[in-house]
Amino acid sequence: MNEKLFTVRLSQDEKAVEILDQTLLPNTIKYLRLEKAEDIYEAIFKLRVRGAPAIGVAAGFGMYVLAQQIPDEDYDVMLSCMERAGAYLNSSRPTAVNLSFAVKRMLKVVYDHTGLIKPELLPLLRVECMAIYNEDRAMCRAISENGLTLVKSGDGILTHCNAGALAATEYGTGLGTLLLGKELGYEFKVYSDETRPLLQGARLTSFELDHAGIDVTLVCDNAASLLMKQGKINTCFVGCDRVAANGDTANKIGTRSVAINAKYHGIPFYVFCPSSTIDFGCKSGDDIVIEERNGDEIKQLFFEKPSAPDGVKCFNPAFDVTDAELITAIITERGIARYPYTESLAKLFLR
Ligand code: MRU
Repeated sequence: MNEKLFTVRLSQDEKAVEILDQTLLPNTIKYLRLEKAEDIYEAIFKLRVRGAPAIGVAAGFGMYVLAQQIPDEDYDVMLSCMERAGAYLNSSRPTAVNLSFAVKRMLKVVYDHTGLIKPELLPLLRVECMAIYNEDRAMCRAISENGLTLVKSGDGILTHCNAGALAATEYGTGLGTLLLGKELGYEFKVYSDETRPLLQGARLTSFELDHAGIDVTLVCDNAASLLMKQGKINTCFVGCDRVAANGDTANKIGTRSVAINAKYHGIPFYVFCPSSTIDFGCKSGDDIVIEERNGDEIKQLFFEKPSAPDGVKCFNPAFDVTDAELITAIITERGIARYPYTESLAKLFLR
């Protein structure tokens, strides 16, 4: 985002997490000041702040804000309160690994400094949450630069959900290459899937790209295969919420259909992934927990009247897992990994 808009940050007095309320976009720009654990949880659960990296950054800041409120200086009290806060925030959404990654990092600071009292721990926790934030910015920038090696000016690009600055910091991941490319004079023609049911593509991606002066066309999710057949799509760009060690990738529901369509049409399908979203503890996508959300999001949230009869059952998984073999490459801050990912990701990050 440009200077005037930010996604998530620590407030100036450092007593709150400040977020742009994404549920109100694109019509209203409103920032929220979150001080209580319940408010941070609610903001993540309701997708006021969303996108895997942004959730992680919010949780890191949240842990620091909550640490300041612990009413005792004693190490053991700090430890148990932080563990409780971490477990609570972590339970707000299950799929994006960045959330637990950030919580674990903040807790590790406490575990690594046994016996320190609150005034000694707080500066260390502050350093850690700022590191999570700054590392995300650096990763987004590096991913965006690596992505630029895969495209040329004039390309038609299909994107699903929102993986831009609203989902992370600064450039974002999946849209970072487009935003950085625009700054460097590239012209892209982007097709943004509206992304049912919460419309991240319509409300957020088209808003963000339009704001950056990028040519963006909004399409229904089910228009993708027609666009591909018409030759309008050169590549597909998506972000991710959790990448298993073998490259299976959880991202917004519908991503897998885009990948299958792309494979059929011989179009490269790229996943943009910061290392904070790789979960080497998950061997494959079968180990990834898929968040299921309230069915009212499908039939009610964006309609004046419900779009289906009262009582009709809804199945509303928020994510799906794209099989590794459907992914042309995974673009990370350390370089570009290609199938088979068990070897290529390990080579980039584990050796
Ligand atoms: O439910 P959301 O809006 O949090 O889902 C977000 C996505 O699926 C994004 O594509 C993903 O987090 C990548 S963000 C850089």
